[in-house]
Amino acid sequence: MTKPWEKFLAEKLIDEEQLQTRIRELGEQISRDYEGKDLLLICILKGGVSFLTDLMRQITIPHEIDFMAVSSYGREIRESTGIVRILKDLDQPIDGRHVLIVEDIIDTGYTLNYITRNLEARRPASLKICTLLDKAERRQVDMKIDYTGFVIPDKFVFGYGLDLDEKFRNLPFIGVVKPGMVVK
Ligand code: IMP
Ligand code: MG
Repeated sequence: MTKPWEKFLAEKLIDEEQLQTRIRELGEQISRDYEGKDLLLICILKGGVSFLTDLMRQITIPHEIDFMAVSSYGREIRESTGIVRILKDLDQPIDGRHVLIVEDIIDTGYTLNYITRNLEARRPASLKICTLLDKAERRQVDMKIDYTGFVIPDKFVFGYGLDLDEKFRNLPFIGVVKPGMVVK
């Protein structure tokens, strides 16, 4: 039987095993780097959810999680505009805490640039970025990424948290969308 996502898939870019292997390495690295520190993981909804849940299970030190949801206007044309709106803010203050942002993908960088400036103003003890995917060649704003899962080419991807018209976030792998595939 054909799967509902098959007609959108050009190729699998990163399979489940590659994802899980890399996430285990990131979890070990983060556990070492934050040993003895009050770590708070902030997941950016909704794309970061699959990554957060797998990553936190690979982190061996005590930590807490929180969520933030933002929207960039113009997302429907698959381009960030740099204008970001907070749809759901954190549940708790972050002053004095060691904050690690957990993101699915950094593309132009506009979204994360806004989020980091917003969170910096709340005076955390430290603020770092962990992204599963980095479309490095698309970057418009310079930023330091502390932990990267994979650097990927400039292609629209879906699966493992990333959506195609809000669907297929459940796939355990990262796939490339067929060129010219209109979803909306
Ligand atoms: P930026 O502001 O351009 O860095 O956009 C980052 C956000 O755009 C990500 O958090 C995703 O929600 C979305 N995004 C960027 N590229 C892709 C993609 O290839 N597939 C799905 N979502 C994407
Ligand atoms: Mg996102």
